[in-house]
Amino acid sequence: MGEDFPRAFVCGYPVTHSRSPLIHNYWLKSHAIAGSYQRCEVHPENFAEFINSLRGNGYVGGNVTIPHKEVACALLYRKDESAEMIGAANTLWLEDGQLCGSNTDGYGFAANLDERVPDWAEGRTATVLGAGGAARAIVYALQQRGYRDIHIVNRTVSRAQELCDHFGGCTRAHSWDALTDLLVDSKLLVNTTSLGMDGAQTYSVDLDSLPGEAIVTDIVYVPLRTPLLEAAAARGLKTVDGLGMLLHQAVPGFERWFGVRPKVTEELRDIIIEDMEAVH
Ligand code: ATR
Repeated sequence: MGEDFPRAFVCGYPVTHSRSPLIHNYWLKSHAIAGSYQRCEVHPENFAEFINSLRGNGYVGGNVTIPHKEVACALLYRKDESAEMIGAANTLWLEDGQLCGSNTDGYGFAANLDERVPDWAEGRTATVLGAGGAARAIVYALQQRGYRDIHIVNRTVSRAQELCDHFGGCTRAHSWDALTDLLVDSKLLVNTTSLGMDGAQTYSVDLDSLPGEAIVTDIVYVPLRTPLLEAAAARGLKTVDGLGMLLHQAVPGFERWFGVRPKVTEELRDIIIEDMEAVH
């Protein structure tokens, strides 16, 4: 092949929307590292083969995104606690030729809040909207950071209950009808549903019962100011958008593949925002 620098990838289907190449190539350039980070569109049928040929193709590791995260987790030789608990992997690397993996979504969520509202983890009660794959990463992060009462609110309550069965004692499943009552004691409200994404669905959540010191955050970052964040800001509550989670989740992978722990900078954030504006 003639290339002796580290190569990494993001693998998805489709993968054209992924902003990971922008993030990692920005860091490669700013640290003057001779390495590469490429998009790989891989059909689910070919995913196992892609994973089995990583070493032969000269990759040190990479990211996996929709729809491969769960299958990637199942193919790991060794996984860390985050991948184990979330049941999905987004960051892969080779160790002695063996495939290892982690899920850095929960880390990215927590690191974003650490940056924006340093005392966010001092709360006891959080309410999470949604019970899909994204919610698993958030509930994991909330448990890790000491939240002791985690309410999971979902349209399909049985899915919320599945998460509770998995994560245990401090989690409770609810329908949307319960939301107003649950918010009374919540220090943190997190949206993990696709509601509000790209303006596709309009919806409103009544935030009147949230305490004045509550924090509201959304993992949706297109648009950056989602209807939920707009409503929270209008009430004077602290808000944190989801773009920081995307940026922070990329940090551990870059460090592992390229040997430098990169920083999430305002300049990087602006690059992604510019790209989002160019697309819309
Ligand atoms: P992800 O892996 O990104 O979390 P997902 O597994 O498809 O995606 O989950 C999407 C979440 O958004 C679910 O909690 C879903 O609720 P259901 O489990 O009841 O399907 C929620 N969601 C999507 N569209 C919704 C809508 N129109 N109203 C309420 N919840 C919605």
